[in-house]
Amino acid sequence: MPLQGKSFVNVSEITPGETFSLFKTAEKLMHSPPTHRVNKSVAMLFFEPSTRTRASFETAANLIGLSVLNLDPSKSSVVKGESVEDTLLNIQAMDVAAVVIRHSGSGLPDQLSKRIKNLPLINAGDGTHQHPTQALLDAFTIQKERGKIEGENVVIIGDLIHSRVARSNIELLQKLGANVAVCGPSTLVPDLFEQWGVQVFRDIDQAFKWCSVCMLLRMQLERQTSFFVPSLKEYHARFGLTPERGALLMPDAIVLHPGPVNHGVEISEKMLNDPKVRLLAQVRNGVFVRAALLAEILGVPV
Ligand code: CP
Repeated sequence: MPLQGKSFVNVSEITPGETFSLFKTAEKLMHSPPTHRVNKSVAMLFFEPSTRTRASFETAANLIGLSVLNLDPSKSSVVKGESVEDTLLNIQAMDVAAVVIRHSGSGLPDQLSKRIKNLPLINAGDGTHQHPTQALLDAFTIQKERGKIEGENVVIIGDLIHSRVARSNIELLQKLGANVAVCGPSTLVPDLFEQWGVQVFRDIDQAFKWCSVCMLLRMQLERQTSFFVPSLKEYHARFGLTPERGALLMPDAIVLHPGPVNHGVEISEKMLNDPKVRLLAQVRNGVFVRAALLAEILGVPV
């Protein structure tokens, strides 16, 4: 178990071999979940709101027999000025075996994982930096739905500049052999991505025609400090997945979105019900991928 006892804060920490081994464990858990309880607990520490990631980690932990400690930062001593590091040291003193952490500070889980010994930290999203388990569940979904990842044409569309999902997915999918491209308003596509070997489509229709996997990103209105697009209506007209653009997709292409969806912005209401759209499959797959990851890190037999 190469990940046992380690933190997982960045997709750079997992090799392709370890990723595919994790996917095998996730498949196994999907078909034959364990029935035993484990005398270990994992803490959830979410400083930013979450529906999918938090519920997914909690369901995953329960699936493999772990106990879950839910700590609400807004009702913790953090509001009295206690640092995140001290909070983690106190959780560790209660024999918690690992902590799942989400924080708005880009790079914070990485810093904390270097400072705190013998407490694996799992990054559930840090600022605009990384969301490594979202990338794992997206790659797992591509493998299940498309049969492979290598050689797949994945286009990531939308608010790339604020997206930790995009950063983690580009790195992981390239490592697993996919061809990764991006498209979006020029104000939301960082130049840096071209240096990473990512193709940048200027023409959205060409991007839809090219891809076998279309990953739509949420317009992150809470992170946009100024106006990056004239209006959300304009964004939908120029970059949204409408039925007309849906008709440009390959017949067997799939559409992913990490959620939460802004209805009628990234995707039209009509397209949300299209069979190409795999949003809820992503959510379901996430539970088993996260259960496999927790099992590896905590040395839980499955
Ligand atoms: N995909 C994702 O991170 O969703 P939540 O913010 O609801 O966890």
